Amino acid sequence: MSAAPASSTSPSRVAQEQIKPLIGSRVLNSKKELLNGQLGNEIRELLQQRGVLVFPEINFSDEEQIAFTRTLGEFEAERNSNDGVFKVTLDTKENPHSAEYLKGSLFWHLDGTMNDVPILASLLSSKKLPSWGGNTGFCSTYAAWEHLPEEQKAELDGLRVMHSVWATVFYYEPEPSLAKLKGMQAIGERELPLVWKHQNGRKSLIVGVTAHRVLGIEPPKSAEILVRLREWCTSEQFSYSHEWKVGDLVMWDNTGTLHRAEAYDANSGRLLVRTKLKGAEPFA
Ligand SMILES: [Fe+2]
Repeated sequence: MSAAPASSTSPSRVAQEQIKPLIGSRVLNSKKELLNGQLGNEIRELLQQRGVLVFPEINFSDEEQIAFTRTLGEFEAERNSNDGVFKVTLDTKENPHSAEYLKGSLFWHLDGTMNDVPILASLLSSKKLPSWGGNTGFCSTYAAWEHLPEEQKAELDGLRVMHSVWATVFYYEPEPSLAKLKGMQAIGERELPLVWKHQNGRKSLIVGVTAHRVLGIEPPKSAEILVRLREWCTSEQFSYSHEWKVGDLVMWDNTGTLHRAEAYDANSGRLLVRTKLKGAEPFA
């Protein structure tokens, strides 16, 4: 883990240090500096460059997390939420809807591959830790693309991939009932480019658990491409596993990273609170 000196300690500038050369920065500004809104644009810019930003033990309340999210862009409301935040937990008293959803989150993915415009970013803060496990893993699909050999880029650019939620069921339930499969298939499928050309001029890879078939390529070769790219994107140089402390806030650029939860004690009451920033850029 390498640490660069903080770029600035002035309240009007973001104070940050790198976590790894190609992914992740810690932001060291105070809660007051973060909530006054003046750093919003600079944090957004840093997020695009670094993929993941960690605000160590910032200890936001739910209201403060919502207010901070609003300093960064357009707030994306959560479904099934009365208070504006989404509770990521297996405790059905806290969140009766989330247990099934969280099974899929143990595998590398980006959010919103079934939507026209995926969310820009998610912010998670830690309220209760598990007794074991429960890191959140991230990898930069911007950096992974940028470091591919040129001949591989030429082979991959232009490929299209079918994404579906139903294919993800088999990761955690190899023998689903027909009713369950059909319920998931009713969500639909979506064809997306393998390489996302962003308005900022950079490119990222759209891979992960929902990617199940490269169009126009025989199944064994298609699987090889998708597994090879997942392995590449999640390799050590492009990835970061965040070990939580209570009060940490972590945000990530959903358009240039993949993420996953790592396994943890399911009876521990692990609780994270999530807010989201609305996306502005369709898959292209
Ligand atoms: Fe997710």
